[in-house]
Formats: sequence, structure tokens, C-alpha cells
Amino acid sequence: MGKVYVFDHPLIQHKLTMIRDKETGTKDFRELTDEVATLMAFEITRDLPLEEVTVQTPVCEAKAKVLSGKKLGIIPILRAGIGMVDGVLKLIPAAKVGHIGLYRDPETLQPVEYYVKFPSDIEERDFIVVDPMLATGGSAVEAINSLKKRGATSIRFMCLIAAPEGVEAVKEAHPDVDIYIAALDEKLNEEGYIVPGLGDAGDRLFGTK
Ligand code: URA
Repeated sequence: MGKVYVFDHPLIQHKLTMIRDKETGTKDFRELTDEVATLMAFEITRDLPLEEVTVQTPVCEAKAKVLSGKKLGIIPILRAGIGMVDGVLKLIPAAKVGHIGLYRDPETLQPVEYYVKFPSDIEERDFIVVDPMLATGGSAVEAINSLKKRGATSIRFMCLIAAPEGVEAVKEAHPDVDIYIAALDEKLNEEGYIVPGLGDAGDRLFGTK
């Protein structure tokens, strides 16, 4: 079963509180989301494999470590996921970035892909799917389905705030996927917003409300 990690680092928690505040405007919301994404990326990459190499320092030859293993890919779920990409790229600048856009079919209420562009070397990469909010889990489950269908075998999911319903949905559909969150909130309300949450992440990031 996939693990759920809640990052309780004080800097992440402090910045997340500022992000939640309804008085925080678009510019600060964007900057804070970016900063939290960087801090989360630092935590999420803790278990990346290393290998030993030899390096010539100005003093002598030394054994030292470099990253080994697969290269990384970042997949933001449109549109709010875009707000977390640059923050992750600050630590992993060579990562490739794919995109997936989903809408909810008004009749079936199921998520439907309207845009997909993933790196071509999908089997050779570990992926981090990013979306600030894990609400019902429908989009996250479908985005991960989409990656797996095209050959991805190693996927993590990272968000700022999750509802218990969303966490359960991802765990059930994708027990191999670890979930990384900054806060696990109380519930979803009737309109599908996370409570207490932060409102509509896309609107707050892009200033569209
Ligand atoms: N998406 C958001 O942007 N906010 C929520 O609370 C739930 C889904």
C-alpha cells in the first residue's frame, strides 16, 4: 500500500498558513506556492538513490556521491498544478515536464482528458504528479492512470492540501503511489471544496476571480 507523508516542517507549515489566508493576494500566493513546492521537493527527494564516484578536489582524490537511478519527470495537472512546477525545478532543473488537462463530464461526472503531453522517454523516468489540491481524487487518479497507460512505472503524487476522501481514492486506485502532502484537512464540502482548505487554487494562483 502506498504511504502518505505529511510534511510538518515548520517553514512549510508557516508558509501554508499564509497561503490559506484569504487576504493573501495573487502575487504572494504564487510566490508562497512556489516556495512550498521547493521545500516539499527537498523532502520528497530524500530517498533518491546515490552512487559513489571519484572526484579530484584541489587537495586530493576523493570518493563522493552523485545521484544515480532514473531521471525525473514532473507532471502538473492543469491548471493549478502549474503553480508548483517552478518550485520543483529549482531543485531538479533537468527534470522534464509533461502536462495533463482533465475536465469532469457533466453526465458521468468522470474526469476526461482534454490535453496530454508527456515526455517521450516515459519508461525511463520517475514521475512526480503535482496539483495543489487533492479533493475528491478524481483528477489525480485519472492523471496517474494516464501515465501508467503510457508506460510509467514509478509515480509519486504531491499536493499542498488533501481531503481524506482524495487520499483514500488515490490509495485505493493506485496502491503503489506514495502521496506527499503539506496538510491533511478535515473534509470536502457540498461544493467540492476542501475544508478549511484555501479556496480555488487555480483562481488564486492566476488571479481569475
Ligand atoms: N480544488 C481547489 O482548487 N480547491 C478545493 O478546495 C478543491 C479542489
